[in-house]
Amino acid sequence: MNETTDWHENAFDLMRGVAAYTGSPLLKGLSKVMARHPDADVGNAFNHKQVGCKLWGRDALFDTLGGRYGRIVILGGWYGILASMLFDDDRFEIGAVDSYDIDPGVGSVAETLNGAWADRFRAITADMYQLPYGELGADLVINTSCEHIADLRAWLTLLPRGTRVLLQSNDYFSEPTHINCVPTLDAFVDQAGLSDVAFSDSLPMKKYTRFMLIGTV
Ligand SMILES: C[S@@+](CC[C@H](N)C(=O)[O-])C[C@H]1O[C@@H](n2cnc3c(N)ncnc32)[C@H](O)[C@@H]1O
Repeated sequence: MNETTDWHENAFDLMRGVAAYTGSPLLKGLSKVMARHPDADVGNAFNHKQVGCKLWGRDALFDTLGGRYGRIVILGGWYGILASMLFDDDRFEIGAVDSYDIDPGVGSVAETLNGAWADRFRAITADMYQLPYGELGADLVINTSCEHIADLRAWLTLLPRGTRVLLQSNDYFSEPTHINCVPTLDAFVDQAGLSDVAFSDSLPMKKYTRFMLIGTV
């Protein structure tokens, strides 16, 4: 066994033990991801900063719009971490979550992670600029990847007027995959141009600040 295999097997054993000890369906899903998708970058997707931003989003969503949703559509859903955190939270009653991502490599990982909610979760490979939003049946649209898309306003204009949205972006300009960061919360508010903003705030992290808006297009 080389060092990498050793590390991966140790981490998998530990995660499986933590999942068994806590009885958490999310952590069980995470241990299955480690077993079935050893190359998935879940250490990055589920690091404490990413989790912190999503806990912040989940609490703000509950406090602002409540916990009952028929269908949530997540764009740039990556490995489905936020979906799993929403399903895992007893405050929420969610009929379905559809997670769209342009990367064909992430959907199977997201479905493994969300295996406990397979009857209510789908991961779909698609470009968020190409979706028929009027036909998706979403009562909430979430995009926590706004820093990753070229033109936020152009994307938002594709959503039917009155759609409720939760958006996150950040000022982490030095990360090469971040093609559309914003310097301040006010700049994010201007960039999004929502017709109604019910929540707007900043979450300072060590290397960057994350911004969030909850409102209506
Ligand atoms: C690095 S991840 C998410 C980062 C973010 N901090 C989070 O956790 O929500 C960004 C995702 O957006 C996806 N993405 C970028 N452009 C997209 C597009 N046009 N349509 C759908 N997904 C897209 C990428 O494939 C990637 O999985």
